[in-house]
Amino acid sequence: MHDSLARTARIAGLGSCLPDRIVTNSDLEKVVDTTDEWITTRTGIKERRIVADDEALVDLVERAGKAAMADADVEPESIDLFILATATVEQPIPASAAIAQPRLGVKNAACFDLSAACSGFVYALNVARQFIATGEADRVLVVGAECLSRYVDWTDRTTCVLFGDGAGAVVLEASAQGDGILQLDWRTDGTLADLIAMPGGGCRFPPNSAQAIEERLPFIKMKGNETFKVAVRAITDLSLQVVAKAGIEIDEVDLFIPHQANNRIIQAVGSRLGLSSEKVFVNVDRVGNTSAASIPLAMADAVAEDRLHRGDLVLATAFGGGLTWASALFRY
Ligand code: ACO
Repeated sequence: MHDSLARTARIAGLGSCLPDRIVTNSDLEKVVDTTDEWITTRTGIKERRIVADDEALVDLVERAGKAAMADADVEPESIDLFILATATVEQPIPASAAIAQPRLGVKNAACFDLSAACSGFVYALNVARQFIATGEADRVLVVGAECLSRYVDWTDRTTCVLFGDGAGAVVLEASAQGDGILQLDWRTDGTLADLIAMPGGGCRFPPNSAQAIEERLPFIKMKGNETFKVAVRAITDLSLQVVAKAGIEIDEVDLFIPHQANNRIIQAVGSRLGLSSEKVFVNVDRVGNTSAASIPLAMADAVAEDRLHRGDLVLATAFGGGLTWASALFRY
């Protein structure tokens, strides 16, 4: 990992999009054998947003991406690179980023999807900042978006209550040293690939194969309890390393924005980092786990709630399928 890149990447604009349809825990009580009490105490989630029947991923990408470009006050034609972090593609070919390109108007941008599940947005920030550091790009649009409601098994109570749909976006621009993304580190441990997986729907188990249909393989499966334990340790350790590498003390962080998967994970990591609860941002109660959209959605909510301001020092951390995890320290 580079310690001192020639140019840093600053967040010039931020945007988000949530579908209108709200699905509460009580609504889910009618779908699977669960209760509002179980979901609330185990996860902290009270409701999530789900796309309308005629909506899909790219509708969310378009709205969040346009909002970020408007916030940055930049023309779509000036974007050099567009990275879409998602685990829930519109269709296998072409990339969802390519489908979204004309709708966003980013006609001069090279466009691709990045697959790192819930860590996708922070991974995409790392890719974007390398292109900015080398001078290959001056302005990058990064969108984290998910349409998880189309990939969850609505008969599986252990997963369907956890996820929601949404999108968040940032415009990154070249900036002077000491500004924008200060430190970022990422990890992958593929020996834990089976903890969170959608085993079917690819070339190993095509969606129409007998085994895929019988074992409901083209749906998200998760070993939640094992994931929980690995996640707490992994993102705490990496966040501490990132902060140490930046040469700052953890209490200099103004706001901690963890991946919004489960409020118990968020609180456990916040307290291991020694952060007071006012510095830990939570919106999982309203949106559920939106995977790659989680961090930019939380950033947008934090701005709306007057908890995140220009110049604040932010520590963001994510973990997800892969397993992947990543932590970023940036000045907003
Ligand atoms: N309603 C009621 N009961 C339920 C439900 C439900 N929706 N889901 C599971 N249960 C039951 C289980 O069947 C089990 O019953 P049993 O004891 O009779 O067998 C019991 O509740 C406890 O189940 P656990 O899985 O042990 O519950 P746990 O306390 O671990 O909570 C949870 C589950 C919420 C999934 C938690 O483990 C978690 O949040 N894990 C991390 C998930 C995560 O962050 N994933 C990463 C990102 S996802 C991505 O990358 C796409």
